[in-house]
Amino acid sequence: MRILGIESSCDETSVAVVRDGRFVESLIIATQDDLHRRFGGVVPEIASRAHLERLLPALRAALEEADARPEDLHAVAVGNRPGLIGSLLVGVSAAKALAWAWGKPLLGVDHVEAHLHAAFLDTDAELQTPALGLVVSGGHTSLFIVDDDGMTLIGRTIDDAVGEAYDKAASILGLPYPGGPNVDAAAQRGSPTTPLPLSRLAPDSLDFSFSGLKTALLYAVRGRPVGRGDAARFERGASDLSEDEINDFCASFQEAAVAALLLKVTRALDLRPDLRALVVGGGVSANSRLRSALSELAASRGLPLHLPPMRYCLDNAAMIAAAAFPRFRRGRSDDLSLTAAAAGQWS
Ligand code: KG4
Ligand code: ZN
Repeated sequence: MRILGIESSCDETSVAVVRDGRFVESLIIATQDDLHRRFGGVVPEIASRAHLERLLPALRAALEEADARPEDLHAVAVGNRPGLIGSLLVGVSAAKALAWAWGKPLLGVDHVEAHLHAAFLDTDAELQTPALGLVVSGGHTSLFIVDDDGMTLIGRTIDDAVGEAYDKAASILGLPYPGGPNVDAAAQRGSPTTPLPLSRLAPDSLDFSFSGLKTALLYAVRGRPVGRGDAARFERGASDLSEDEINDFCASFQEAAVAALLLKVTRALDLRPDLRALVVGGGVSANSRLRSALSELAASRGLPLHLPPMRYCLDNAAMIAAAAFPRFRRGRSDDLSLTAAAAGQWS
């Protein structure tokens, strides 16, 4: 069975054809990094206009790459929540129009849930349940129990998402957008010479907090502010730092961010000795340090670890089609009243 997936929740316009919920026959991802770079972050209005321009060319390319005609497809899936509402609406409107015109079932997919399906794309791996799920992205840092009935949220960030903290760290250090991959690359060239604090949440909590880490980095880089309000000035700025110093700050930040994630994953595994696997997804699952730390942890616990292949870590439509597949196989779908929603089930 072949499902067409559409993803437009943030700043990637993506269309894919996925067979049997796993095998990626085509995947087109049109990034908008070039449009948002000079603003240092995603501008929602620019993102939705760009989706509008890029969606149909991406659709044509995805069908061509998969050598699929509309009649070869069995369903149309779209990420309809959570995300930027104007961006989501472009994908949802397109998916509804295609499902109606082609006479195919339509399925709306939660983007956060879809990230946990990315680890199984192009693999034969089966998830043993109950499992621990970790979603680490620009908008979410959440821990789930995944079982045969679905997902239960057991911990989440109370402030910034870890990807957002990476992006802010990059901007504090004068590194270009998108920040996460640049901080990761610089961290690999540096050493964690500045100890930065882990979140100060209660030891038994499974929630995360990253805004304190970001502020600690800001003060470590710039010194304490002198004066208040508009008159406040910092002692230093990123432009006063050498490349080695920037690399070391990146390594220090990465060390603390990954340690904070590992602390809560370890705690969840301690609390639930019945968990049989660890599955991870979201843009930050591309992080080199996080991938190796999770591999060590899973190996030490004798648990299978499911990490997405690098090309499926960031937002993509293949994970959307994959996430729709189990529901579609059970004969379920949505009708044309499907809407986009800025908040998802777990936001
Ligand atoms: O999942 P994603 O593509 O979009 C959301 O659903 O938010 O994640 C994007 C986030 C961005 O914050 C980006 O900086 C971060 O993932 N990211 C990384 C790395 N690659 C992407 N963060 C740390 N290390 C990386 N290698
Ligand atoms: Zn995402």
